[in-house]
Amino acid sequence: MHTTTLPQSNNRTETGSDRLTVAVIGLGYVGLPIALLARDKGYIVSGIDTDPAKRKAIKARVVADLDPRFERLLANESLTVSNDYALVHDADIIMICVPTPVREDHTPDLEPLKNACRNVGRQLLPGHMLIIESTIHPGTCEEILLPILEEESGLIAGEDFGLAHCPERVNPGDDVWTIDKIARVIGGSTPSARRQAANFYRSILDAPVHEMETIREAEAVKMVENSFRDINIAFVNELAMSFTKLNIDVVNVLRGASTKPFGFMLHLPGCGVGGHCIPVDPYYLIDYARINGFAHRFLSLAREINNSMPEFTVGLLEEELTRRGTSLRGAHIALLGLSYKPNVSDMRESPALEIKEILEKRGATMAIFDPYIPEHSNVHGLREALHGADAVVLATSHDAFVELTPDLLQAEDVSIIIDGRNFLAKDSFAEAGITYRGIGRS
Ligand SMILES: NC(=O)c1ccc[n+]([C@@H]2O[C@H](COP(=O)([O-])OP(=O)(O)OC[C@H]3O[C@@H](n4cnc5c(N)ncnc54)[C@H](O)[C@@H]3O)[C@@H](O)[C@H]2O)c1
Repeated sequence: MHTTTLPQSNNRTETGSDRLTVAVIGLGYVGLPIALLARDKGYIVSGIDTDPAKRKAIKARVVADLDPRFERLLANESLTVSNDYALVHDADIIMICVPTPVREDHTPDLEPLKNACRNVGRQLLPGHMLIIESTIHPGTCEEILLPILEEESGLIAGEDFGLAHCPERVNPGDDVWTIDKIARVIGGSTPSARRQAANFYRSILDAPVHEMETIREAEAVKMVENSFRDINIAFVNELAMSFTKLNIDVVNVLRGASTKPFGFMLHLPGCGVGGHCIPVDPYYLIDYARINGFAHRFLSLAREINNSMPEFTVGLLEEELTRRGTSLRGAHIALLGLSYKPNVSDMRESPALEIKEILEKRGATMAIFDPYIPEHSNVHGLREALHGADAVVLATSHDAFVELTPDLLQAEDVSIIIDGRNFLAKDSFAEAGITYRGIGRS
């Protein structure tokens, strides 16, 4: 099944099988699907995760936000899951998929990754191939992780073991672009490490694998992809704020501009940018460039603009309340949606959380409802959320919120809606006498 340049099985498995063994460290949004995919493609796979709740959920085969194919794979075969790094010993290929967040001051927090590398390093044997999938800034593999791995193992990278970086591009909640269909880039600490890792990915993906000249280039690719998105979103968010003053519907304008068949890519404004990637990764590049003597003004400005969107959104609501002679103090608001994107339960860096905090600070009470996150909702359904509300703030465009019609709002006597995702049909609200404010459209 595998090409000849995959790592040779170290024959360390107790199964006696000559199939290659993969150990995946960190079984979250990235690690679990790749572990299930590798197993589906015939590898022997084990997973290591430090979170007991995560291990329990995987063993019980109940994991949120997996797309249907991976739900089936998880249901059909059990995965060996442990917190014991000794499993690495028996592996041929080790993949690290642990989080790479930022600290309060927006500097990279590489502790989970360093910790995983220290633990892996202690188990490392000659012949091992180690692949970092976590998002990292250029220089992380060569300047930070390699020294840890060499020190802990007493082995030499390139001679004794291979190190490669293949940044993950998974888009949770996307049934079309599943991980097996998304092209990958790979860099290696040596050309041979890169080739071996690339061949491993070719054996599990139905997508092109592009080999980069250096590992630093592969690290930089991910920074560029997500910064590109952050900057484009910041641009349309800035337009939304400007066009609100100019009384121009920004969504109509952007849709008009996107009829140009080349040189324009549609991005839409919203109440903020969330998730573990786009609002985080640019800071990795900003910080690394700063340390090396370059100030990324454009990236920093994009972060600043996108971070200001929750405040802008609450500002729209305050404007409407002021117009009616009231304020947020003592108002009762239905906050709909907590996750950072539609139809998933992931709340990491979600702008909805910031909107909630601002509303709380300004003295509003809230009915909070997210159908994907009942444990953080304080009501059980849309109707209950609207009951007694002075206004609605829609922070996530879950499909289920199409039920948020003018009829429903009228039935519950709600006369203001702030559509933080420009998700609803604005004209239908105006016709029903309900004040509608979107992000750059009213
Ligand atoms: N979520 C996405 O959409 C996405 C997309 C592309 C890239 N990434 C990148 O992939 C990486 C992982 O992200 P994620 O969303 O899967 O994170 P996650 O939080 O969903 O999962 C990470 C898992 O790693 C475990 N973990 C943490 N430290 C560990 C350690 N030292 N040893 C073993 N397990 C450990 C955690 O318990 C958790 O289950 C990040 O670098 C992220 O930027 C994420």
